[in-house]
Amino acid sequence: ETGKSLSSTPSSLYSGAAVVFDIDGVLIRGKNAIPQAVKALRILDGENKLNKKIPFVTLTNGGGVTEAEKAAAVSKIIDYPDGLDKDDLPVDPNDGSMSDFNKEKIHAVMVFHDPRDYGRDLQIIYDVLKSKDGVIGNGYENSGKQSVPLYFSNSDLIWSTDFVSPRFGQGAFRACLETLWDKTNGDGGNKLERILYGKPFKVQYEYTENCINSIFNDNGNGRNVYAIGDNPLSDIDGAHNYGWKSVLVRTGVYSDQTKHKYLNSNPTAIVDDVEQAVQWIVDQEV
Ligand code: G3P
Ligand code: MG
Repeated sequence: ETGKSLSSTPSSLYSGAAVVFDIDGVLIRGKNAIPQAVKALRILDGENKLNKKIPFVTLTNGGGVTEAEKAAAVSKIIDYPDGLDKDDLPVDPNDGSMSDFNKEKIHAVMVFHDPRDYGRDLQIIYDVLKSKDGVIGNGYENSGKQSVPLYFSNSDLIWSTDFVSPRFGQGAFRACLETLWDKTNGDGGNKLERILYGKPFKVQYEYTENCINSIFNDNGNGRNVYAIGDNPLSDIDGAHNYGWKSVLVRTGVYSDQTKHKYLNSNPTAIVDDVEQAVQWIVDQEV
């Protein structure tokens, strides 16, 4: 969520830097706030040796709701008075109408959240991808051809919640679907074609950079952007590939014991939690 534009606020109050927070494993774990989250937000709100505010945005692979709903939900968990930006909650788009999906032509499959019922969702998506002309009731197109495009919003294999061990994410669901497709279409060599969004892909960082620039009302030239995250394969690789500094925290997916499995690109710093991350950032800006 972007903060309010600074155009109406004297820039002397604000550092020229910006912070990009990952959410799960950095600010919250499931329904619980990370204990240091409020202090970290207060530091960015001016309680620092710069005596300046440091604007921030959040960049999450968590989907399934609008940005406004996500911001409101995370603010409620963190319970921070000047919380994340909250817009009016949108009208519920589901008007309750049901279609006969045996006859309805489906033009694309877009996965916006981690499926709850893998078995059901794998079967339905497979039926659509294999269907003749995108109509499930037509039965399977037996050429091995994929009938409709497939989009995923998040490639996280695992992510951090309030459970003691990481949970499978949307990337795990995609791995299951790719395996089923290969085992049933592999002889024709037809690999599952899918378009991927979310961290660590460049499109997400371009969008986030535009959000940051809209806060400062400028083109961002020369700005230090620091990304704080818990997942090396999404948060750190994504920031590293985009040329941002990155701070990896130990409160989520990453732990010193598992680093050999997950660390592709080296973070600029590795710290225990989000408060240490923000303190480290302030020290870079002094
Ligand atoms: O489903 C959300 C999970 O994949 C990770 O979310 O906030 O750590 O990018 P986040
Ligand atoms: Mg995370």
